[in-house]
Amino acid sequence: MMQDTVTILGIETSCDETAAALIRRSANGECTVLAEQVASQIAEHSEFGGVVPEIAARAHVEKVDLLIRRVMADAGLVWSDLDGVAATAGPGLIGGVMVGLMTGKAIAAAHDLPFIAANHLEGHALSPRLSEVVGFPYLLLLVSGGHCQFLRVDGLGQYSRLGSTIDDAVGEAFDKTAKLLGLGFPGGPAVERAAAKGDSKAVTLPRPLMNRPDTLDMSFAGLKTAVLRAAQAEPLTDQRVSDICASFQMAVADILSQRASRAMAMMAEQGADQSRRFVVAGGVAANQTIRSCLEEAAKAAGFQFNVPPMKWCTDNAAMIALAGAERLTAGMSDVLDTPARARWPLDHSSANASPVYGSGKKGAKA
Ligand code: KG4
Ligand code: ZN
Repeated sequence: MMQDTVTILGIETSCDETAAALIRRSANGECTVLAEQVASQIAEHSEFGGVVPEIAARAHVEKVDLLIRRVMADAGLVWSDLDGVAATAGPGLIGGVMVGLMTGKAIAAAHDLPFIAANHLEGHALSPRLSEVVGFPYLLLLVSGGHCQFLRVDGLGQYSRLGSTIDDAVGEAFDKTAKLLGLGFPGGPAVERAAAKGDSKAVTLPRPLMNRPDTLDMSFAGLKTAVLRAAQAEPLTDQRVSDICASFQMAVADILSQRASRAMAMMAEQGADQSRRFVVAGGVAANQTIRSCLEEAAKAAGFQFNVPPMKWCTDNAAMIALAGAERLTAGMSDVLDTPARARWPLDHSSANASPVYGSGKKGAKA
């Protein structure tokens, strides 16, 4: 069944943000976010220096109903105003995923609404389409706590992987760098703040795999080890910490923009002018230095550049509602016994074909 305009409730609980959102999307792609709430669990996890799955699941249970009630009230909607409910079904920390998934299914069952089991990564992949009409196809760089990959997005559900990290995800590298420099949790924003006071040329760090013209794969594990060595080499004054952060951030920006330039060259060779679009999504896309280096690369390649506003780079439910809205508009929905999945790659064929990529890397913010 095709519908013109759909109003969808989205629920996100795959990692350490509990989130609910209501969006309205017309068939021509225009979106309005009617209400949204994100409750972060930073306080719950900070003393452990990372996300503790059991604590996360419990915090989701405590908050998710309240957030849903709040977005319904903020938007002034009743259940019969909804056309469907979407909840993240994976990938992520399984206990948390189950909380949001069960909640979404219960609402759908009680109010006889279509249910969409959303892939969290599809939410990130589509997220720039919340604020702008970005047509398919596009080159996507997905950079989050658990993932770092280039994908060609040809349409809803049509993803092919062009390259990927072979070890750590880029957000994970930020988080580990922050931890070993004593900057606390979450790491990405802390490293970015410290880097603002540092000199990006002060510490020489490697750019692994950059001399390999034959691949779009990336590696960050060696960079992390080099950061550890730099941290041990001299007393860790505030200035030294800032210099290491600035140098690390610049190394990541260099790696990503060099790979992005190559990926754009490939896209340009393959396709017509309408495929000259480069989209960046996921938590690391919130980093200003990385955003501007990638924007420069896009400009140099003659590509349109789209990145969601900051609040939709990190985990949120508006992007989950959007994935649900796009699927529902295309006539897709899921049965109520759809399982929660810890791993769920966007591109099944390349995940199966290449053991290096495994079964979709680790969960969100691994
Ligand atoms: O997309 P996201 O919220 O969750 C996942 O699906 O993983 O991404 C979280 C990741 C974390 O590793 C966090 O440190 C990183 O994104 N991150 C950043 C920034 N803000 C969040 N990394 C660098 N700079 C930032 N400003
Ligand atoms: Zn995410």
